[in-house]
Amino acid sequence: VKIVSQPFVFNEENLKRKDEIAARYPDSHPRGALMPLLDLAQRQNGGWLSREAMDYVADMLDMPAIRVYEVATFYSMFHLKPVGKHCVGVCTTTPCWLRNSEAIVKACKDTLGIDISATTADGLFTLGELECLGACVNAPVVQINDDYYEDLDYDKMVTILEALKKGEQPKLGSQVGRSGSEPIKSNIQGDDIHAS
Ligand code: FES
Repeated sequence: VKIVSQPFVFNEENLKRKDEIAARYPDSHPRGALMPLLDLAQRQNGGWLSREAMDYVADMLDMPAIRVYEVATFYSMFHLKPVGKHCVGVCTTTPCWLRNSEAIVKACKDTLGIDISATTADGLFTLGELECLGACVNAPVVQINDDYYEDLDYDKMVTILEALKKGEQPKLGSQVGRSGSEPIKSNIQGDDIHAS
């Protein structure tokens, strides 16, 4: 994807949100607002942070630009090049790996026809691998934009991606119908937890 950066300034609505965000931090530590402001900039900028957007936030917080780049390059929630409409991040850390996250990665590759770190030609999907999403109890887990999809297997992952392709909203959270991380059965036995 050819990166074409544009000048960046917050729009009127986000200027107001910027003030709301800044007000949450003490006057002595205004730079605490860095991550939420980068997130706001990324959302306005179509899901990724251009150099101009990072510099704009750096100026806003009176920070050296390098400090902002350090943060933006560290966290997987920030994207430094254009991404698809749906950012699919498969957790491949140990608990999800033990629950066969490899099959989830394969389902994504097979369905989208792309490899990790690539974006589909239609601009709909970007595929990535993420570290622990903090939802190991419902492993394997995938994050797509702001949403989690849990208790996945190959077929369930394909179903979710096919729904997104059609512009539909797949069911969020557990794909085996449990609420939160409750046991699947009330008289649960060890093997029933992930029986599906
Ligand atoms: S290891 Fe995947 S959510 Fe924790």
